[in-house]
Amino acid sequence: MTDPEFHRIKRLPPYVFADVNAMKASARTAGEDIVDFGMGNPDQPTPRHIVDKLVEAVNDPKTHRYSNSRGIPGLRRAVAAYYGRRFCVDLDPEKEVVVTIGSKEGLANLAQAITGPGDIILVPNPSYPIHPFGFILAGAAIRHLPVGQDFTFMEQLARAVKHSVPSPTALVLNYPSNPTAQVVDLDFYREVVAFCRKHDVYILSDLAYAEIYFDGDPPPSILEVDGARDIAVEFTSMSKTYSMPGWRIGFAAGNRTLISALARIKSYLDYGAFTPIQVAAVAALNGPQDCVDEIRALYRARRDVLIEGLTGAGWRVPAPPATMFAWAPIPPNLHHLGSLEFAKLLLREAKVAVSPGIGFGEYGDDHVRLALVENQQRIRQACRNIKLFLNRCGAAMPALAAVPPPPAQILSLARAQA
Ligand SMILES: Cc1ncc(COP(=O)(O)O)c(C=O)c1O
Repeated sequence: MTDPEFHRIKRLPPYVFADVNAMKASARTAGEDIVDFGMGNPDQPTPRHIVDKLVEAVNDPKTHRYSNSRGIPGLRRAVAAYYGRRFCVDLDPEKEVVVTIGSKEGLANLAQAITGPGDIILVPNPSYPIHPFGFILAGAAIRHLPVGQDFTFMEQLARAVKHSVPSPTALVLNYPSNPTAQVVDLDFYREVVAFCRKHDVYILSDLAYAEIYFDGDPPPSILEVDGARDIAVEFTSMSKTYSMPGWRIGFAAGNRTLISALARIKSYLDYGAFTPIQVAAVAALNGPQDCVDEIRALYRARRDVLIEGLTGAGWRVPAPPATMFAWAPIPPNLHHLGSLEFAKLLLREAKVAVSPGIGFGEYGDDHVRLALVENQQRIRQACRNIKLFLNRCGAAMPALAAVPPPPAQILSLARAQA
């Protein structure tokens, strides 16, 4: 039998990161030391008291049964308490909170729950892949809102709503943003909420980096805006805040209709996260929060080392105010390569792995993303390698570093890849 072309699988383009991952694996097999800024996979252990709580809970056989697909009540209450403390938002844990198996699962299942074939969904571009693909898998048509282009976000949004037939069902937001690290304030949310209420557009806000911020005020929640709950639901996650990426635990909170749709579809699909994980998540949210401060401080220190190192290497990269990513414009001399070929060149010549921006959408192709998942010493090592590489190919930016004449060999290599 020839391979069938399954309707949904056909809609998933080849995995852009696969090329770089394959090169990384073969370089490592060949004994090369690759500094890996590729995947945003937190490298720190989960704080001890959270692990201890998991172990305690798993020793109770009652926790081995099917759990509750909306999440155990104690965890929903802990999420509501977090929103109360952190954002002064008062949530009903019964009707306005659902526990998800990671926020990615919640986003994908909410997309399934609310989308009909051909519904139009507005998604910024570049964006974290589940934001468009959760909806593409659900049969939606995506209208991309280019980020960082010639219009402001509100102009892009107004234009998209005006020219979309049928009218858009929902808008996805993600601030602090993966991959761009852009942050927004409450006024931004006020404007978007007022606009979306007027045009009957639901909002799905992804606040995965709520606690990973370095400069300025802590990121706000869209639910702080009066009336937001009429149209908005927000996703938060334990993955980054408590270094629990493998545990798969996150939350959706806000609009009752959306929360109930998500709960209903989940009741058909899963029995909830393993109870001991939910019990440990309660301990994380209700327990001491110094571990969150430490995690934030660790990323901030790495960010500072990375940005200083890259600046010294002649690569001007804006310091991310939040998230665990630097969004780095490809140096002008190598811009023509595009992000995938630039990432491959960086891997081959500087032994540094990054994520090509094209993996986050076409408007990301002039950037690469560096995740802060290596320690400071290895970040410095990467920056030294990058400096040598940029100098060799004449791509170091002159105002920041002396530029020796570029040897022909690497320049022609760069051109061959264009
Ligand atoms: C913006 C954003 N949303 C969601 C996720 C996934 O989070 P979770 O581990 O809770 O599924 C990530 C992970 O990198 C992310 O960057």
